[in-house]
Amino acid sequence: MSSRRYLPTDPWTSEVPREPFIPDRIWVYSEPNGGRDLIEINRVTDPERWSAEVAANVPIITQVNMGKPIEPGETLVPTSSCSMPSLVTDMLDALGPQPGDGILEIGAGTGWNAARLAVRVGGGGHVVTVEVDPELAETALKNLAEFGSTACVVTADGLQGCAEDAPYERIIATCAIRERIPVAWLDQLSPGGRIIAPWGTEFFTGCMLTADADDEGCVTGRFSGDLAFMRARSQLHAFYDYEPAVEVKRSAPWETTSHTGTETLDAVLDPSRARFAISTRVPDLGLTIAWDLFGDRHHSIELDDWATKSWAQLAAHMDSGEPYEVRQHGPRRLWDEIEAALTWWQDHDQPGMDRFGITACPSDGRQWLWLDDPDHSMRVLVH
Ligand SMILES: C[S@@+](CC[C@H](N)C(=O)[O-])C[C@H]1O[C@@H](n2cnc3c(N)ncnc32)[C@H](O)[C@@H]1O
Repeated sequence: MSSRRYLPTDPWTSEVPREPFIPDRIWVYSEPNGGRDLIEINRVTDPERWSAEVAANVPIITQVNMGKPIEPGETLVPTSSCSMPSLVTDMLDALGPQPGDGILEIGAGTGWNAARLAVRVGGGGHVVTVEVDPELAETALKNLAEFGSTACVVTADGLQGCAEDAPYERIIATCAIRERIPVAWLDQLSPGGRIIAPWGTEFFTGCMLTADADDEGCVTGRFSGDLAFMRARSQLHAFYDYEPAVEVKRSAPWETTSHTGTETLDAVLDPSRARFAISTRVPDLGLTIAWDLFGDRHHSIELDDWATKSWAQLAAHMDSGEPYEVRQHGPRRLWDEIEAALTWWQDHDQPGMDRFGITACPSDGRQWLWLDDPDHSMRVLVH
């Protein structure tokens, strides 16, 4: 095992050990960093491997397929985890809870974070952790009680917050939100409070939002990092349900255009370049990439806007040098919109994610994405 696999030696981890919050049955990725196959490990039958994984700086999957019984051969989809410790340590440090604070966590999982936050805020503060999955909420409750933690667990959709114990000085989510900051969080955050949440769009999945409230309750934040958290369950459907049946797509009339070069393809495939900026300019854009579907470096790319039922499809052969064809259907020409946004990005000094931000004002309900400062609006999310 290389050293990067060891748990970080930070105060958070020494205050509350990880092990009491990990169930006997866990899943880990086949490769420490990115291998997508999940391997099941049971503490009863393989205690050594279980302990090694729990002591490592890796995410531990604590639930797959929403906790439903697994049929033989069924694909395993992680639906809860104890996230990578070093990543969560960074989030907790950025959250900066103080003794006496009220903290709202969204996504209790099995309770480790809530226990750590409760130690920090001490007897004068309070931690409420909201978990949407009743079985996980029960596990978190049991783990926290056995550890002697004061954190309280609520079974609910965390996008609604928990009004009963509001206001909170800090709100932290460990599941990802899409585009808008939930209004309930804005209402339940104290003036001067802070929100830390994994944030994404349907086109750009995965960064961290750090946002602070001013004295009037307007929340302004910036984006950083490159990370993938599980999505808030209440927002999963918008992501998956738009997909029209294949036959519907095949029978619908489309327009074919021919394109050359790999510039736009690279922009779509590589999240570290223009993808964030494109998603601040092009609304309602879902991206599906099937890597190597047609052979080595020959991917399928699909864009969808489920509201207008517009789509664009293409096969991207990265090395052929040949022109490629894009099929576009519906009132929006999604590929053309991406090309226009890419041109904007190139003409504006190729801004990276760190130059963008979001502002949300509960007084008039407006939320918008901006470049460099809130006066330079890029896209209005809520009018
Ligand atoms: C990465 S895990 C949480 C890890 C946990 N904080 C810990 O300390 O181990 C994300 C959790 O968010 C939960 N979740 C997803 N959507 C939610 C929602 N809308 N409200 C509350 N919890 C949600 C999932 O069920 C999952 O348990």
